[in-house]
Amino acid sequence: MTATRTSAPIAANATAPAITATGLRKSYGDKRVLDGIDLNIAEGTVFALLGPNGAGKTTTVEILTTLIEADAGEAWVAGRHLTRAADAVRSTIGVTGQFSAVDNLLTAEENLLLMADLHHLDRREGKRRAKDLLRRFDLSEVAGKTAVTFSGGMRRKLDLAMTLVGHPRVIFLDEPTTGLDPRSRRTMWEIIRDLVADDGVTIFLTTQYLEEADQLADRIAVLDHGRLIAEGTADELKQRIPGGHIRVRFADAQTLDTAAGIFGIATRDEDSLTLQIPSDGSLPNLRAVLDALETTAVQAESLTVHTPDLDDVFLTLTGQPRPADTVASPKGNV
Ligand SMILES: Nc1ncnc2c1ncn2[C@@H]1O[C@H](COP(=O)(O)OP(=O)(O)O)[C@@H](O)[C@H]1O
Ligand SMILES: [Mg+2]
Repeated sequence: MTATRTSAPIAANATAPAITATGLRKSYGDKRVLDGIDLNIAEGTVFALLGPNGAGKTTTVEILTTLIEADAGEAWVAGRHLTRAADAVRSTIGVTGQFSAVDNLLTAEENLLLMADLHHLDRREGKRRAKDLLRRFDLSEVAGKTAVTFSGGMRRKLDLAMTLVGHPRVIFLDEPTTGLDPRSRRTMWEIIRDLVADDGVTIFLTTQYLEEADQLADRIAVLDHGRLIAEGTADELKQRIPGGHIRVRFADAQTLDTAAGIFGIATRDEDSLTLQIPSDGSLPNLRAVLDALETTAVQAESLTVHTPDLDDVFLTLTGQPRPADTVASPKGNV
C-alpha cells in the first residue's frame, strides 16, 4: 500500500467493502484499549461488534468516525481513507452514540431542521425531509413537542432520524438499545432492519447483547480487551457456544431421579433438584419436554428456558466468565 493511496483496495468480483481496517491500535497512557483490530464489512450489511463494558467498542467507533485517531493501523470507510480523506469519510457517515445529538430545548421538528441546516439543505427541502423522517419514525404527532418530554425510546428514534437527514451510506450505532425497555428495543430493531432493506445502507453497531447481534447482524465480531476473539455469522458463532437448555425443578430427590431416567442426556443437580436438558429454545423442543413430563406423569415444580447469552459466549471463547464489574443489567431500565 503506498502512502498516497486514498481509495480502498477492492478485490475483483468482490462486493465493495463499506469498511476495511487493518491493525487498529489505541492506547491511553499505559492502558492498551485496542490491540490490533482488523475489519472487513461488506456494503449493505449489518455488522455487530459485541462486547462487555470497557471492551473498546466506543473507541473503535470513535476511530472509524474520525472523532479520534488510532495510534497505528489503517482503515477505509465507504471507500475513503480514514485519515487522508477524513472530510470525505465524514460526509458519507452517520453516527449516533452514547451522547445524543438531540437538543432538549428544541422540538422534534426543530431538531431535524437544525440538522437540515447543517447539511445545507434549502428550507423547503429541509422541511420535506424533516416531515418524511418524522412520519417514518412514528414521531409526527410529537413533532411540535420539545425533546425534553420524550421517553428514552422516542429520543433514540429522533437521534437516529437526525442522523439520516444527511443520507449517510454508513451508519454507526453505538449501543443503540442500551437502557431501552424491551418494546422500544424491538421498535429500534425494526427501524434498523428497514434501513438496510429500504436504503441499502451499511450498519456498524455495537452491543452488549448477544440476542441483539443475533437479531440484526449479518456478521458478528466479539471484542474482548481490545482484541477480536471471534468473528462470523450468528449461526457460526452459536455453533461454538454450548447450546441453550431447559431447566426443570422438581419437589424432591425421588421425582428428580425418575425424571433423569426419562431425559437421557440431561445434567442433574441434586442440590437445587433441577435437571438441565439441552435445548435449542424452540417451541417444538419445549413441547417435547412438556409432553415427556406429561405422559410419564412426572410433576415438575418450575421450568425455565435458557438461551445462550453474552456470558456463555465469553465463558466459551475465553474460558473466563466476564468480570463481574462489566456485567450490565440484561434488561436495562429507563
Ligand atoms: N479518553 C479516554 N481516556 C482514558 N481511557 C479511556 C478513554 N476512553 C476510553 N478509555 C478506556 O478504554 C477502555 C475501553 O473503553 P470503551 O471503548 O469506551 O469501551 P466500551 O465502549 O466497549 O464500553 C475502557 O477501559 C476505558 O476506560
Ligand atoms: Mg461504549
